[in-house]
Amino acid sequence: MLDFIIHIARDAGRYLKDNLGTDLDVSFKGRINPVTRVDKASQDMIIGAISREFPGHSVIAEEGLTQETGSEYTWYVDPLDGTVNYIHGIPFFCVSIGLYKKGEPYLGVCYSPVLDELYSSEHGKGAFLNGRRIRVSPAVHLIDALVATGFPYRKDSLEGSLSRFARVLARAQGIRRMGSAALDLCAVARGSFDAFWEEGLSPWDIAAGMAIVREAGGVVTGFDGAAVDLSSGNVLAANGPLHGELLRLM
Ligand code: IPD
Ligand code: CA
Ligand code: CA
Repeated sequence: MLDFIIHIARDAGRYLKDNLGTDLDVSFKGRINPVTRVDKASQDMIIGAISREFPGHSVIAEEGLTQETGSEYTWYVDPLDGTVNYIHGIPFFCVSIGLYKKGEPYLGVCYSPVLDELYSSEHGKGAFLNGRRIRVSPAVHLIDALVATGFPYRKDSLEGSLSRFARVLARAQGIRRMGSAALDLCAVARGSFDAFWEEGLSPWDIAAGMAIVREAGGVVTGFDGAAVDLSSGNVLAANGPLHGELLRLM
């Protein structure tokens, strides 16, 4: 199954890369959440492959597809995570596919086609970048930590986001806002970022990345320290030592 997911993520990723800079036919879900013909075509490729191979499985995919079959397997598909970057020609985006079994992370794959970086994980078997084992960082103090975050598309009630941002900024080495939550989580898994937090994410943004961070030895919770509810979308991911201090700042 992991080989199958890697294969479809690579195919969809190649399609994203080949279409970068072409006419994208941008439309909007709400005022500023964009979608392009490439998001939709990438999703069609991925979902076509999954439903041919595993027709009985549940599937939740970003571009308007929720298929609940009662299967113990659920696929979470983001056919292009980082659409705003993609539209602006910034090469930080990926395909993100997570497979959950009985509600728990089972397999995760994120593929960044421009960087040619493929992150993968399998429950109990570790996390990998292009086939080499990865682990979260060993940082202990927040002042040594590079922390990633993101901001919601909606523009109302930003106070919570901004005050969390100010609290972390005052204590960390630095903050980055890269524009792909899935790749932010993968960067925590490889130890490049020491931590990541963001509010209001969707299941397809985080399902694969969360699986990969956990298999890399990281801790992923909501802002209250409880297990992430995929539908509530508040995520704090970090190595073990930093998680507690960041949790207090959330
Ligand atoms: C977005 C990206 C971004 C995050 C947004 C997501 P999309 O996903 O992951 O980094 O800040 O909250 O919605 O729309 O590019 O698939
Ligand atoms: Ca996304
Ligand atoms: Ca997307």
